[in-house]
Amino acid sequence: RYEQNAELLNRLSECATYFQRQLIEHPHKEKAKSYLAKDRGLSGQIAKVYGLGFAPPGWDNVLKAVGKRAELQEQLLHGGMLIEKKENAGQYYDRFRDRIMFPIRDTRGRVIAFGGRAFGDEKPKYLNSPETPVFHKNLELYGLYEAKQNTTTLDHILVVEGYMDVIVLAQHGVTNSVATLGTSINSQHFKKLFKLVDKVTLCFDGDKAGRAAAIRGLEATLPVIQDGKQVRFLFLPDGEDPDSLIRKIGKDAFLELLDDSSSLAHVLFDHARSLVTLGDEEGEAQFTQHAMSLIQNIPKESTLRSLLVKQLADQSGLSSETLTANAPTPKPLYN
Ligand code: GTP
Ligand code: MN
Ligand code: MN
Ligand code: MN
Ligand code: MN
Repeated sequence: RYEQNAELLNRLSECATYFQRQLIEHPHKEKAKSYLAKDRGLSGQIAKVYGLGFAPPGWDNVLKAVGKRAELQEQLLHGGMLIEKKENAGQYYDRFRDRIMFPIRDTRGRVIAFGGRAFGDEKPKYLNSPETPVFHKNLELYGLYEAKQNTTTLDHILVVEGYMDVIVLAQHGVTNSVATLGTSINSQHFKKLFKLVDKVTLCFDGDKAGRAAAIRGLEATLPVIQDGKQVRFLFLPDGEDPDSLIRKIGKDAFLELLDDSSSLAHVLFDHARSLVTLGDEEGEAQFTQHAMSLIQNIPKESTLRSLLVKQLADQSGLSSETLTANAPTPKPLYN
């Protein structure tokens, strides 16, 4: 199994090299280069840091370049790079065609998967590798290896939504961001991040989906947060993502926004408040119950938990003891 995975990783690394080389030598390289440079404003240098590449149009480019023997094709299949033809078992075609390729690396820098972006409005906009023996998207974070490599003292990590957000932030000198891979951030992601840094800021798009993702992030961090760890939230202006925003306002203004990000407590209480439908005392009771049901997911021994209960006690005029005694059984959260 271990050796099989090692072979798989070798093929993925060869694919990454192949895609990168197409930016230099493919007859249609100009299309890809101008997408990166003109449409997305990326420098050649940042494209190199993130190992960006080009999967040319066609059904058998990877197949021919990296899968020259049946055994290699089998490995490419298990690595997610090929798809088996429905009508013809044992025959394969390329999964990634006519896309900009983003290699996804593990924390040791090994290529374990890819994301591929369409050039235009083709669907899906982003195509990711499927789950494979070496790629578990619920555990991995895009850009973590690069953040570790390129940040002098990595003590704070920003979590953003997209590949492009990570890369454009880095091009502007904000090298400490990572992205989830088409999934919401979960408790395992937080555990991984908390092993590396004490401070994590969630910075999702200024749209409905981004705000919902921030709340799922709140729920996911509660069970795994510990004293000494800090989670903050940066809500971006409507219609902006980190990519568009830092281009517009520049690094310094972006960092100032980060300084003004919201605390976990603020977001938790705001969220509980937003769920309230009633006015008057009934509404206050509803708010208190919502807040307590969230707070109860924080580990019992954590000082943060006691402080949040205390804050809620101050706000409601009830004692911490009453709040705890009346607290709803914690509902299963997203995590
Ligand atoms: P650009 O349009 O290239 O700037 O992408 P974006 O990152 O701003 O896109 P968006 O905010 O819509 O999506 C954020 C992230 O969600 C992407 O980087 C992908 O990881 C993922 N994503 C977006 N669209 C798709 C899709 O169609 N399929 C899958 N699997 N993931 C997607
Ligand atoms: Mn979005
Ligand atoms: Mn976006
Ligand atoms: Mn974007
Ligand atoms: Mn507020």
